Amino acid sequence: MYRTKTCGELRQANVGEVVTLAGWVQRTRKMGGMTFVDLRDRYGITQIVFNNEVDAALCEAANHLGREYVVQITGKVEERSSKNANIATGDIEIIAQQLNVLSESATPPFTIEDNTDGGDDLRMKYRYLDLRRNAVRKNLELRHRMTILIRNFLDSRDFIEVETPILIGSTPEGARDFVVPSRMNPGQFYALPQSPQTLKQLLMVAGFDRYFQIAKCFRDEDLRADRQPEFTQIDCEMSYVDQEDVIEVFEGMARHLFKEVRGVDLPEKLQQMTWHDAMRLYGSDKPDLRFGMTFVELKDTFAGKADFAVFNEAAYIGGICVPGCAGYSRKQLDELTNFVKRPQVGAKGLVYIKFNEDGSIKSSIDKFYTAEQLLEVKEAMGAKDGDLVLILSGDNANKTRVQLCSLRLEMGERLGLRDKDKFECLWIVDFPLFEWSDEEQRLMSTHHPFTMPNPEDIPLLDSDPAKVRAMAYDFVCNGIEVGGGSLRIHDGKLQAKMFEVLGFTPEKAMAQFGFLINAFKYGAPPHAGLAFGLDRFVSIMAGLDSIRDCIAFPKNNSGRDVMLDAPSTIDQAQLDELFLDVKAPQE
Ligand code: AMO
Repeated sequence: MYRTKTCGELRQANVGEVVTLAGWVQRTRKMGGMTFVDLRDRYGITQIVFNNEVDAALCEAANHLGREYVVQITGKVEERSSKNANIATGDIEIIAQQLNVLSESATPPFTIEDNTDGGDDLRMKYRYLDLRRNAVRKNLELRHRMTILIRNFLDSRDFIEVETPILIGSTPEGARDFVVPSRMNPGQFYALPQSPQTLKQLLMVAGFDRYFQIAKCFRDEDLRADRQPEFTQIDCEMSYVDQEDVIEVFEGMARHLFKEVRGVDLPEKLQQMTWHDAMRLYGSDKPDLRFGMTFVELKDTFAGKADFAVFNEAAYIGGICVPGCAGYSRKQLDELTNFVKRPQVGAKGLVYIKFNEDGSIKSSIDKFYTAEQLLEVKEAMGAKDGDLVLILSGDNANKTRVQLCSLRLEMGERLGLRDKDKFECLWIVDFPLFEWSDEEQRLMSTHHPFTMPNPEDIPLLDSDPAKVRAMAYDFVCNGIEVGGGSLRIHDGKLQAKMFEVLGFTPEKAMAQFGFLINAFKYGAPPHAGLAFGLDRFVSIMAGLDSIRDCIAFPKNNSGRDVMLDAPSTIDQAQLDELFLDVKAPQE
């Protein structure tokens, strides 16, 4: 037997027992005639003591142990004279009687402790060492726990987990596909699923009624802190349900997870905010409700009141009231101006009004507007003495709102209002069914072409498609889109109409989605579903800044796995076998 106990389980009650532990040498310390070894495994750390006076040879062997050696130690559990309240095993230590080196270790490239000296790239290159650190391992343990809770929850509500294939056909709309060449079908490619969307709909046609899958999804898109090219969805679909039924089941699942994992009680019923209100009040379809500073539209307040062309010509003027920040210095205001002018935000400039504690007003538009006019702004903003009002304007209302959203989030960050231990969840509903794509110069599906239009808006499909609302819903927590889904079209005629509005000829629709269109000819039940991003859900629960921290082997921001050195070139023989020529630019 390699071990009789783990490094995390010995307590005062075990004093006197002879035990065998196995693990990694976290650290050795020599003090007088004694050598102390911190032995670590997944479960914790136990202090081992080697006494030169009791067994000089054994103590000498311990002095030669390097960091990360794998050892097996047998010894007697004793009460510690100086206890360590910081670790669970801090009341005891083990007086070593035997030491067996199971594996030596080269000097690790960074220290394997909670506060490591390893930078991001180094930790990713040696991710297997990084994963030995508590901080990283506990995120994966949480991920495991959440998937178990999810599986049990869904199982208890009659959902069946079905695996769908990874090698499927390419589906346009949405992000770019990752493709895989087929050796047996020269010149042809599989695509990796961006989500199991069409397959889960086919499972509804097949009568499965309630499906789920913890599904790997692949999207070739630009990466960010909450986006990986390969990620995991909790993918679900249900038959004979309407929007409220779906929301009720998955709100229940979210409530269960928050309670079990964080001990947090979500409200009895989560708020549902229309997409329109979310954009109007927060400039985002994923508003962070942990703090206020909602937008106030000021076009009417400012319009035509002064000779200030920026405002007079703007299609939209919006402000946020930052409580208690009238004392901001010139330097702080310059920083904010630079912030909104960064290309990532894209505003042309920032207008501020300080409503000082003493009742005086100082603003960047003093020379255009009178004090009385600025007091009207104060009134409109609901600002108090001591508050700072920040205003952006622009010729495209929604673009300006998005810029103001960045500023609002920045202020929330600066004021410490984005508390990671606070959770504000809501549903966003009534999304527009289509959005205009500048790139494609046509309407595209906001979600996907199978999303049901709001029945009230079906007549608008011909006359004003941009106004049609979708029967779609997103689950948002702390400003992050954690999940999303929709009611699906199960009527062939309506689906054909959708393809028409999206600019698909019937032939093109048939070529790309024929399998689904055909399936729907054989009795498709009304159905709906949604998918949560598991990585995002776990990272919110763990308070992480990036989903990478809850993925065992993530990719970096260039989509590379630096540990495996993937992607990489392949041999000419392999290319030949796949009938591929590579035209990549020379390095
Ligand atoms: P959607 O595209 O909204 O919907 O994706 C659902 C959820 O998946 C997560 N997600 C991601 N997580 C990490 N990295 C990514 N690149 C990434 N992309 C998406 C998000 C998102 O809310 N088939 C539909 C669902 C449905 O209609 O049932 C779908 O995939 O948390």
